[in-house]
Amino acid sequence: MAEVIFDHVTRIYPGNDKPSVDDLNLDIKDGEFLVLVGPSGCGKSTTLRMLAGLEEVNKGRILIGGKDVTTMQPKDRDIAMVFQNYALYPHMTVADNMGFALKIAGTPKDEIRKRVEKAAEILDLTEFLDRKPKALSGGQRQRVAMGRAIVREPKVFLMDEPLSNLDAKLRVQTRTQIAALQRQLGVTTLYVTHDQTEALTMGDRIAVIKLGVLQQVGAPTELYDRPANVFVAGFIGSPSMNLNTHPVVNGKAQIGADTMDLPKEALDKLTPEDHNQIVVGFRPEDASLATPDETNAFSLKVVNVEDLGSDGYIYGNIITDDSPAEQSTVMSDQNKLTTIRVNPRVLPKAGDTVKIKVNPAKMHLFAPSTELRLN
Ligand SMILES: Nc1ncnc2c1ncn2[C@@H]1O[C@H](COP(=O)(O)OP(=O)(O)O)[C@@H](O)[C@H]1O
Ligand SMILES: [Mg+2]
Repeated sequence: MAEVIFDHVTRIYPGNDKPSVDDLNLDIKDGEFLVLVGPSGCGKSTTLRMLAGLEEVNKGRILIGGKDVTTMQPKDRDIAMVFQNYALYPHMTVADNMGFALKIAGTPKDEIRKRVEKAAEILDLTEFLDRKPKALSGGQRQRVAMGRAIVREPKVFLMDEPLSNLDAKLRVQTRTQIAALQRQLGVTTLYVTHDQTEALTMGDRIAVIKLGVLQQVGAPTELYDRPANVFVAGFIGSPSMNLNTHPVVNGKAQIGADTMDLPKEALDKLTPEDHNQIVVGFRPEDASLATPDETNAFSLKVVNVEDLGSDGYIYGNIITDDSPAEQSTVMSDQNKLTTIRVNPRVLPKAGDTVKIKVNPAKMHLFAPSTELRLN
């Protein structure tokens, strides 16, 4: 087992002017399951491939178990990788696929058999050991790919979107299995995904990356409850956080004809670069319907409602002076609408105007100039 350290690691691909991974500092603790998450093209695979030794590091160092591996050959790093396309050998049985790396390394036959059988038992593959990959389901193939990594008993597991070839239902089952398996084996794991739900449900900690730059690292609840900037706030959580920029007038956020109180600690951190504006964020579950005369609440023109049985959702436009409510009641992009979770038994109707209040303890406030958290 081993700790993994990225120490100011940068990767610029030949011919690119911008780094694909820019000055990355990341410490994965011994036995930890760390999920690296971000949109497509943000540098996740590049990070993983540098740790595997498949991609050159241009600046900085990578350490595994205290040892500098920055220029070490992949085969000497004692890591095992699970790819998105499982890359199984079609002409080999499950058992041979799983034991192949050990065979290449010259491990004795009985030892290989022992490790393969043990891994097969953990992965519920025992009865399939003599089958070829084409006679397996997608989920079983995925488990063979996992098995191939497990039998090597490596210091570190690297997984690059290993669930993206599975259908939605199987993905949910398999992510639980992988997370449980990792905890059982206790092997340090770097897991890459673009799916924030996978990150939230699987990781001990999550590292969010955008355009090659690390944004925040923390436990799932830390990132959910206290996102460090506007990007993390919008990226983590589904349905996503409502985020809007509003003028600050007399120490309050001006929302159309309404105002919402702002905490002094946040106001004090605004600078002239923010031009008396503030980004107010709140999650759909942290707001609720208010009575029409409620102060410290804002008006929402309802565009669409959803009754999911257990939950109700209202989608609407915040009524402000410069965005008249009528403007976008038709053909609205649901992603740009303000989302509020409500009791499905008291759903308003599309076209209604309702008052919404936000739990003040659950407001997320950011500076427009830096997009950094203020409270
Ligand atoms: N071999 C390469 N040559 C040049 N640019 C590359 C190469 N591989 C990846 N990139 C670029 O680096 C960035 C990060 O890519 P990647 O690490 O694959 O992202 P992710 O895995 O997060 O989707 C992207 O802009 C991509 O186009
Ligand atoms: Mg990738």
